[in-house]
Parts: sequence; structure tokens; C-alpha cells
Amino acid sequence: MAELSIPVITIDGPGGSGKGTITQMLARRLGWHLLDSGALYRLTALAALRQGVQFDDEAGLVRVAASLDVSFEPTPAGEPVKVILAGEDVTDDIRTEGCGDNASRVAVIQAVRDALLQRQRDFRQAPGLVADGRDMGTVVFPDAPTKIFLTASPEERARRRYGQLKDAGLSVNIDALLEEIRARDDRDMNRSAAPLKPAEDAQVIDSTGLSIEEVLGRVIAAAGQA
Ligand code: DC
Repeated sequence: MAELSIPVITIDGPGGSGKGTITQMLARRLGWHLLDSGALYRLTALAALRQGVQFDDEAGLVRVAASLDVSFEPTPAGEPVKVILAGEDVTDDIRTEGCGDNASRVAVIQAVRDALLQRQRDFRQAPGLVADGRDMGTVVFPDAPTKIFLTASPEERARRRYGQLKDAGLSVNIDALLEEIRARDDRDMNRSAAPLKPAEDAQVIDSTGLSIEEVLGRVIAAAGQA
């Protein structure tokens, strides 16, 4: 059972703001658990595709979300958490731009969000949790003592994503990436179900032009964990 007395640091913001990296570094430094909630939406989209469930089949998507057979396996420092779906390693499959875009489509459906809510809250285990997403501070953990909203300009986020994809040996067009980022922001911010926005009590940090170490320093200071 998730305990309300267990501390949570929520890190919300748009994709490419650095929140995934910051969440991993912070969880490791504190020795706390980590929730990558975006992975659950990505997994729902991937599992739906694999099971032949259409993105306009709301009942089908809810069934997929409610029955996700997923586990997250720890990895050595600096490596992404291993994601296992129905016994298969899908760590790389869920990180593609296409899967992110599909995730953003299934995430607009309130009933899908409801189906994933308790699964996310169950990550709240001692000694603490660092939770990464869009609605961690607003919906999933509204009582979290520390809420961070991490942003960066769309141009900076496109540059970061371009660098990651290039390092992974993929050829990409930075203008197309910027377009996708803007379209995804628009969908995530303007949906009626849990839109992307800072919680009223969140501390907003703009990571544009900051190194990851600088951002981490600000987040730790904001969390009072320095
Ligand atoms: O953080 P990410 O890129 O892995 O998230 C993929 C999509 O999932 C994102 O475009 C919106 C959705 N999402 C969401 O709606 N709520 C969350 N807490 C996390 C992600």
C-alpha cells in the first residue's frame, strides 16, 4: 500500500526539458524510488498497437492500460531503467518519436488516465519517490511536499533531442523535430484531461541554457535536500 507519509518530489514539464535525466539523477542520489509515468502512456500505446487495438477504441485502450504486464528493472548508473512488457525488453521500442506521439494521443483519454492512476500511486514506497510526468503534482500526488515544473524553450528541447538521436546513429531533421515538439506541447497543454501545467504550489525552473548539473543543483535546493 502506498503511504501518504512517504515523501514525493514531483518533476513535471514538457518532453525534452531534462526532467527524465534529472529524475534519474535525483532518485539515485537520494536512494529513492523512481516513477517514469510517461513510460506507462508509451507502454499503453505500444501494447495497443501490438494487440491491434485502434487509438479511437476507448474501451479497448482502457482494457490495455488496466492490464499492462510491465516491470521496471534497475540498471547500472547512467543507463536508462530497463522496461519489460509481457516478458519482452521494450526499453528502446518505447523511446521512439512515433511511440511518444502515440502516447500523447492515448493520454488525452480521461478513462485511460484513470486506469493508470492507482498503478502510479503504488510507486510511493519508502524511503521516498521521485515522480516524472505531466500531472504528477496536479493530479497523481497533489499532496507532494516538493513540486518542480521544469521547462525549456521548444528550440532548446529540439536541439537536445536532435543530439540524442544523432548520438544514437539516427538521421533526423531538426525543423521536423521542432514541429513535432510544438504539436505535442499543444496536445498535452490543451487537452481537457489533466493538461500539462504547473501545480499552483510548484517551483518553476527554466533549464534553457543551463547544464544538467546546474539544473540538478537548483532542483535539490528547491527540494531542500542540499
Ligand atoms: O514524458 P514522455 O515523453 O515519456 O511522455 C509521453 C506522452 O505521455 C506525453 O506526450 C504525454 C503523456 N503523458 C501524460 O499525459 N501524463 C504523464 N504523467 C506522462 C506522460
